[in-house]
Order: sequence, then C-alpha cells, then structure tokens
Amino acid sequence: MASSSGIRAVIAMALLSLLTLITVSGTPPGDVINCTSNNTNCTVTNGYGAFPDRSTCHVAAVSYPTDENELLLIVSSASIHKQKMKVLTFYSHSIPKLSCPGGPSGDGLVISTKHLNRMVCIDSSRMTMTVEAGITLSELIDVAAREGLAVPHSPLWLGVTLGGLLSTGSHGSSLFGKGGALHEYVVGMRFIIPSNVLVNGYYARIVSLGEDDPDLLAAKVSLGVLGVISQVTLQLQPMFKRSVTNRVFPDTGFENNITMFGATTEYGELTWYPSQARVVYKVDIRVPVSTPEEGENDFIGFQPQPSLVVESIRAIERTLEATQNPNGKCLQSTVQVAAILELGTGLKNNDEGLFEFTGYPVIGNQSKMMASGSCLSSKDDGLLTVCPWDPRINGLFYHQTTISIPLVYIVAFFVDVKKLRDMNPTALCGTELYYGFLLRFVRNSTAYLGKTTDSLDIDITYYRSKDPNEPRLYEDVLEEIEQMALFKYNGLPHWGKNRNVGFQGVREKYGSKGENFIEAMERYDPDGLFSSEWTDGILGLRGMGVVVERKGCALEGLCICSLDEHCAPEKGYYCRPGFVYTEARVCRKVDVF
Ligand SMILES: Cc1cc2nc3c(=O)[nH]c(=O)nc-3n(C[C@H](O)[C@H](O)[C@H](O)COP(=O)(O)OP(=O)(O)OC[C@H]3O[C@@H](n4cnc5c(N)ncnc54)[C@H](O)[C@@H]3O)c2cc1C
Ligand SMILES: *[C@@H]1O[C@H](CO)[C@@H](O)[C@H](O)[C@H]1NC(C)=O
Ligand SMILES: *[C@@H]1O[C@H](CO)[C@@H](O)[C@H](O)[C@H]1NC(C)=O
Ligand SMILES: *[C@@H]1O[C@H](CO)[C@@H](O)[C@H](O)[C@H]1NC(C)=O
Ligand SMILES: *[C@@H]1O[C@H](CO)[C@@H](O)[C@H](O)[C@H]1NC(C)=O
Ligand SMILES: *[C@@H]1O[C@H](CO)[C@@H](O)[C@H](O)[C@H]1NC(C)=O
Ligand SMILES: *[C@@H]1O[C@H](CO)[C@@H](O)[C@H](O)[C@H]1NC(C)=O
Repeated sequence: MASSSGIRAVIAMALLSLLTLITVSGTPPGDVINCTSNNTNCTVTNGYGAFPDRSTCHVAAVSYPTDENELLLIVSSASIHKQKMKVLTFYSHSIPKLSCPGGPSGDGLVISTKHLNRMVCIDSSRMTMTVEAGITLSELIDVAAREGLAVPHSPLWLGVTLGGLLSTGSHGSSLFGKGGALHEYVVGMRFIIPSNVLVNGYYARIVSLGEDDPDLLAAKVSLGVLGVISQVTLQLQPMFKRSVTNRVFPDTGFENNITMFGATTEYGELTWYPSQARVVYKVDIRVPVSTPEEGENDFIGFQPQPSLVVESIRAIERTLEATQNPNGKCLQSTVQVAAILELGTGLKNNDEGLFEFTGYPVIGNQSKMMASGSCLSSKDDGLLTVCPWDPRINGLFYHQTTISIPLVYIVAFFVDVKKLRDMNPTALCGTELYYGFLLRFVRNSTAYLGKTTDSLDIDITYYRSKDPNEPRLYEDVLEEIEQMALFKYNGLPHWGKNRNVGFQGVREKYGSKGENFIEAMERYDPDGLFSSEWTDGILGLRGMGVVVERKGCALEGLCICSLDEHCAPEKGYYCRPGFVYTEARVCRKVDVF
C-alpha cells in the first residue's frame, strides 16, 4: 500500500512534470576545474561533481593549448620533469576517475582540450574529415552536416568531445556493418606522446597513424593513457534521414526477440520498464535524405529543466527512500513513463509549422536525430534552468551500471532478471524514474579495448544518496543484476560509466586483446606519465586494483560485500547471497524481529 505521503508525492511529481514542459532557456554546465589563481593549484571533478569513491582530485596546474605546437611544448616540458598528465575535456562526462593525473595528489598537470575544437580539413571525394580532438559531438555533427555529410554513429548526448568519447569506447546502437561505436569509423589519428630523448627540439613527438597502421587498434579506444589525441580523421557518409517509431509491448518473451530485432533494424534500441512489464521497441531505420520530413530528436531527459522542479523531484525521491516506500516510486514511474511516451520521448515532427511531437514516424536528418542535448546550448539564466544532474543545484544524483552482455547470453540473462523481478515486483521501479533499462546493440570490435563479441549493452541508472553511508531501497536486487551481468554472463563494463565493481577482473576478460593494448601503451608512454592509479587499477598494472575495502564499501559499489560491515548492519542491511544468482553477495535489508 502506498502511504498518503507517497500519494501526495506522486501528485506533486505529476504537476512538476507538466511544469518542465514549458521551459525554454537554460544554464549550460559549469566548469569541472577550479583553480585558486592563474590556472594553478586546482581541483578537477567530472560533470556530476563526484567520482565513484568521492575522492578529490588536486592538480598543480591546467594548461589550455590552442594548437598542436603548444600541445607539443606542454607535453615536452611535463615530460622533462616526469610530471604526470591527463587530458581534461570541456565538460568531462565520464563517471570514473579517468581525468585525474596519477602520482602524488596535487603534483599532476591537466591539459584542457577546450580550445582544440576546429575542423582541420575535409576530403569531399573520400568523405573523410579531420578535426581536433576537443571538438564536441555537437560541433562535429554540425560541421559535417554543413558539408552534406553525416556522422554515422555516436552516443546520444551532444556534450561529449570526440577525444573523450573515443577514449572510452562510447557508442550508439547498431548491429549493421561495423556497428554502433564511432571508433569503428576512425581512419586516422594524430597523437602527441612523451619522449625520453630529444626529438626536433622537444621531449615529445607527434605520432601519425593511418587507416592500416596496427597501432590504430590500440589508439581508437585508449582510456587516455597513450598520450594526447591531437586530431582524428573520420569516415563519414552522405547525409541520410532516420525514421523512428516507438512501439510498446508487454515484456512477455521479449528476450527471445531481441537479437532478431537488432539484426533487422539498423538503429534499433529497446527500453525495458521491468516493473511495468513493458518494453518499448525503438524502430529506427535509415531512409533516403529526399524524404520530406524535417523532424528532430530533443530527448526529454537532456532538455533544460527548472532547478526548482528538479530539486523538488529529488526531494520526493529522497523522501521515498527515507520512508522505504517502493510503491511511491512505482506510482511515480507509472505517471512519468506515460508522460514520456505521450510526448514521443522528445522527438519532434515539425508538422505544419509546429515544432512538437504529433505522431510517429518521426523522420529527420541523421544530424538532428542521432544525439541531443538542448540543456547544453541554452543561454545562462543564472541556474534557473539546468541539465537535471547539474551538481550546482540539489538535483539528480545517480549511479550507472552499464554492461555489455554477449548476445548469446541475452535470453538467459533476461530470464534470470525476470525471475528476480517477479520475486520483488516493486524493487526496480526506481530504475524506471531514470528511463528504465536502456538496451543497445554493439558489435565486436577490432579495437583492443572495444567489445570482444557482438553484445547488448544494458544501461541502468538509479538513485545515489549524497551520503555514502546511506543504503538504497532494494539495493540488493540491483547489486545482484550487476554481478550477474558481470560474472555469470561475462559482461564487459563501459569504460566511461560504472562503479568500481564493474571493472573487477576486466583485464582477464580482454585476454590477448588486453595484452596487445598494454604492449602499445608501454611503447607509447614507457614512464606511464599518462597513467594513473585508476587506469593502472582497471588494467591490473603496477599492483593496482579497483576494489576499495572499507566500512560501507559495497553501498557505493567500491567492493562486493564479503562482511556485513561492508553494508550497513546498523541500518539493517547485511551481506547476503543473491536470490537467483546465489554466487552474488549483496547488501540486503533484513528485518529483525
Ligand atoms: C548525459 C550523458 C549521456 C551519455 N550517453 C552515452 C551514450 O549514449 N553512449 C555511450 O556510449 N556513452 C554515453 N555517455 C558516456 C560518455 O559518452 C563517455 O563518458 C565519454 O567518454 C565522455 O566524453 P568526454 O568528452 O566528456 O570525455 P571525458 O570523460 O572527459 O574523458 C574520458 C577519458 O578520455 C580522455 N581523453 C579525452 N580527450 C582526450 C584526448 N584528446 N586525448 C587523450 N585522452 C583524452 C580523458 O583524459 C579521460 O581519461 C553519456 C554520458 C552522459 C553524461
Ligand atoms: C572553487 O574553490 C573554492 C575554494 O576551494 C570554493 O570556495 C569555490 O566555491 C569553488 N568554486 C566553484 C565554482 O566550485
Ligand atoms: C601567473 O603565473 C605567471 C607565470 O607562472 C607569473 O609570472 C604571474 O606572476 C602569475 N600571476 C599571478 C596573478 O599570480
Ligand atoms: C592551494 O589552494 C588551497 C585552497 O584551495 C590553499 O589552501 C593552498 O595553500 C594552496 N596551495 C598553494 C601551493 O598555493
Ligand atoms: C538535411 O540535410 C540536407 C542534406 O544535407 C540539407 O539540405 C537540409 O538542409 C538538412 N535539413 C536540416 C533541417 O538540417
Ligand atoms: C516476437 O517474436 C515472435 C515470434 O517470432 C512474434 O510472433 C512476435 O510478434 C514478436 N514480438 C515483437 C514485439 O516483435
Ligand atoms: C567478430 O566479427 C567478425 C566479423 O566482423 C567475425 O569474423 C568474428 O568471428 C567475430 N568475433 C567474435 C568473437 O564474435
């Protein structure tokens, strides 16, 4: 039974959702670097304002090169001093601590790619374009479109940079051709790497990789550890249009249709709402550019939203957590999902001069349909409206578990998750407040740190408390799914998302491809100047790991619990085996009478 406070919360939520629809402007994200003076003595964070372990990253300085020569000079002088370095992007959207230089805290250097965002050249006959690596996806798509060209695949969010999205293997969704990851369409790269010997006056040098260079397999997805990516050449395509129709079905047996759907739908993607037992098939296909419609995708979750509304939504979510009210979350998710589907998820048709959703299919240029992010580009209104996770307000704060499971295990995986869901019918409502389980296709890759087999990427977003010692409602169920995906079904983590546990044992999963990557890394940067404790941890180098064992560590995914104190026994959460995957160890609320 939902309590009356739960019902009030849901009504408030419904009213608030309506308010968000009338927003027009918005404050773009803030800086992820904060220096005391003169670009020195700084702290670095990510776009969410927190790393998985909530540590602070201090660096000695930040530099802002404006061209490749300055980049060479910067890497050279840091290289002389054996100073640790990292590239910092404009918004820094990865969750893990990837952008923090290694070594003693406060000694490192970050090199911002903020001003490295130009188009370098375009070869119209081959349809290739060379750009600087700091270019945002938004700028990249626009410059290509001005030449009548389309970026074939990308993540859904316009705020990432080309260098950053490649470094973590980011992707859209496709099983067609080379698949949905943009690194598959890289045909050249230029790196600036450190050098122990003087090369043309610098302790750094330029490495230029062509399409057939074997090192490109290491370079395409490099976690930022090979050196600085200065330029990237991409294989583009003539502009085309996409036609999108969302179809909602009951989730009965849907797991049996997933692979067939991916095999027959070029940009196919699914969203599973486990508690509502519904699945949305995003039927998304390529159509000729001559198709008349001029629609676009302005995904609701990436639109600017009034800070007051976002803060109220967060306050309600906190209350439902504090009062242990899963039914309140279920009611809320029913309202929210219905509203999102009614609004076509933010797709707009541009029918008869109106720019809104008037019905399916929505058809528009690839450059308008593939990715979105209207909360990025809006004018500064002093934080009145923001991207909903903006850390400068008390807005959304969440964990993301993003794991690619080989297609061959997909049916078994969903059968297990459904079993778990049926045992705990309200446990997964919280995930539906963050757009459900997003399911996308990714192809096996020649990139050493790309996927090792054709997979379905499962993307789950869920509540994270601002207090690291606070357990979450039904966290046991999400932890069981996380461990099942990783260990029972041999899933690979997304390098730019996930909690620490996601990376446990990842080097072994990459096998010889992982060894090839490490071999290249040791050649490019023998002193490990671009490596950090985090990248050593995920790659299993220099004795580092990713597990942090301490009181409460399992609550934040810093460890898998083996002792009750890794959970929160004082709050009734104990370390217990999973219900379906009994090898799992999860923090479960146990009522003691
Ligand atoms: C709202 C949102 C939606 C998202 N949607 C998707 C999605 O649909 N699909 C998906 O796969 N991912 C998605 N992501 C994840 C995102 O694509 C990755 O985290 C991506 O790596 C972020 O890019 P960035 O430019 O912010 O790079 P950062 O996070 O700043 O950097 C990542 C790493 O790359 C390194 N790096 C960056 N540039 C360079 C360079 N020039 N040279 C050397 N190293 C460099 C950095 O040092 C760091 O180690 C999403 C993230 C958000 C916030
Ligand atoms: C930057 O850091 C200073 C000192 O630590 C702090 O007072 C200030 O609020 C920070 N600014 C931002 C924008 O985070
Ligand atoms: C900024 O740094 C430069 C070079 O390190 C130095 O000469 C200058 O005095 C500094 N300015 C301030 C205001 O600290
Ligand atoms: C760096 O800044 C902090 C405040 O953010 C200050 O306490 C510290 O003294 C500064 N260190 C140096 C070397 O300037
Ligand atoms: C779609 O692409 C075509 C071909 O490049 C272009 O002429 C047209 O202006 C584009 N439409 C929009 C809305 O960007
Ligand atoms: C799933 O597959 C079955 C058998 O191929 C088919 O009858 C059914 O219509 C499919 N459902 C969806 C939603 O595609
Ligand atoms: C990866 O895909 C290629 C074709 O692109 C195929 O030949 C190879 O067998 C696949 N490998 C795996 C492990 O799926």
